[in-house]
Amino acid sequence: MSRLRVAILGSTGSIGRQALDVAARYPERIEIVALAAHSSVTALLDQAARFGVQNIALADPDAAENARRELGRPVGAGAEALERMAEEGSADLVLNALVGAAGLRASEATLRSGARLALANKESLVVGGELVTGLGLDRIIPVDSEHSAIYQCLLGEPADAVARIWLTASGGPFRGATPARLHTVTVEEALAHPRWTMGPKITIDSATLMNKGLEVIEAHHLFGVSYDDITVVVHPQSCVHSMVEFADGSVKAHLGATDMRIPIQYAFSHPDRWDAPLPPVDFRTIGALDFEEPDPETFRCLTLALEAGRTGGTMPAVLNAANEIAVAAFLDRRAAFDDIPRIVERVMEAHTPGAALDLEMVEAADAWARTRAAALTR
Ligand SMILES: NC(=O)c1ccc[n+]([C@@H]2O[C@H](COP(=O)([O-])OP(=O)(O)OC[C@H]3O[C@@H](n4cnc5c(N)ncnc54)[C@H](OP(=O)(O)O)[C@@H]3O)[C@@H](O)[C@H]2O)c1
Repeated sequence: MSRLRVAILGSTGSIGRQALDVAARYPERIEIVALAAHSSVTALLDQAARFGVQNIALADPDAAENARRELGRPVGAGAEALERMAEEGSADLVLNALVGAAGLRASEATLRSGARLALANKESLVVGGELVTGLGLDRIIPVDSEHSAIYQCLLGEPADAVARIWLTASGGPFRGATPARLHTVTVEEALAHPRWTMGPKITIDSATLMNKGLEVIEAHHLFGVSYDDITVVVHPQSCVHSMVEFADGSVKAHLGATDMRIPIQYAFSHPDRWDAPLPPVDFRTIGALDFEEPDPETFRCLTLALEAGRTGGTMPAVLNAANEIAVAAFLDRRAAFDDIPRIVERVMEAHTPGAALDLEMVEAADAWARTRAAALTR
């Protein structure tokens, strides 16, 4: 049996490192053929040596130059190098684990190359929507645990029988908090997620519930379900990863360990399933599972994301870009936690949404929103 050739973009991040854990467990099934990151030279070179990978790239040109000097051979440099890596077709599957709208071009290039796209970078779909799915929806396999769950619930089901997607949310570290409490949230508190250990951007997005809003837009594009038929439900135990309700009222739920290596591995093994070294769910000891309504007034980011999704066109790109700038400002202590929705809302209000007919159009909206949002931070 030939091995699955995998390229990992964002290999030094939380998802990238967990993907390499999976690859290390299955060397007879997975061959890592390319690795890319932004500026983590040492981590990337270590990974390349460990997995015997020649083809590496760094989006930061200075970091790439340092890596080239250390290796004594050329190293892909700049964002275009990551795009070329995705495009060149040496991989059967590209895992896009980049963070933010920076992942859009790589998703597009992967699908253009004919490879399969294991998509962790949800921002690609938020910003690029139909532009990305139009290049090969059937070759995209989601990595986000909720979307992997929904994908699995939908297998073998007729598309017109789907009545509703129930998208679960842990509620983040500030579930039940008042607006006054959110005003005082520190960076340290926001980075301490109760269920998942993730990169800083998605951790803050989880705390504001922007992450859940981005996931609603992602689900809309991946599964072709209207916004009216996607319902967010807070489920603090994070045991049910999401659910699909069908026309006859039957509901399929996906449960499993709270560990991102499971959906990552599934993206590699699909349509097969491989063993995983994690304790299975034991229904005798699982305890109570709670489900509750989110609070869209306190967690404005969720509301704003749904508005942007429903508006469509360039608005989701504007939402995403403003959020990236606001989150970076919060992490740099140049903005308060509750400035994040305020900045996003003001940028959205100032935007006249246009059609998103090509990448240049969404990238122009993205650049405009970044400038507007930056002007609203300290
Ligand atoms: N972490 C999770 O559990 C989780 C779960 C579901 C979905 N996701 C999604 O997966 C994606 C990655 O999340 P993460 O938590 O793994 O992020 P992360 O830990 O911050 O890692 C991001 C990776 O992307 C690279 N990178 C960052 N900015 C880049 C740029 N401008 N150009 C090229 N490379 C860049 C980083 O390289 P350097 O190390 O060199 O900076 C790193 O390898 C996000 O879209 C997130 O929403 C994550």
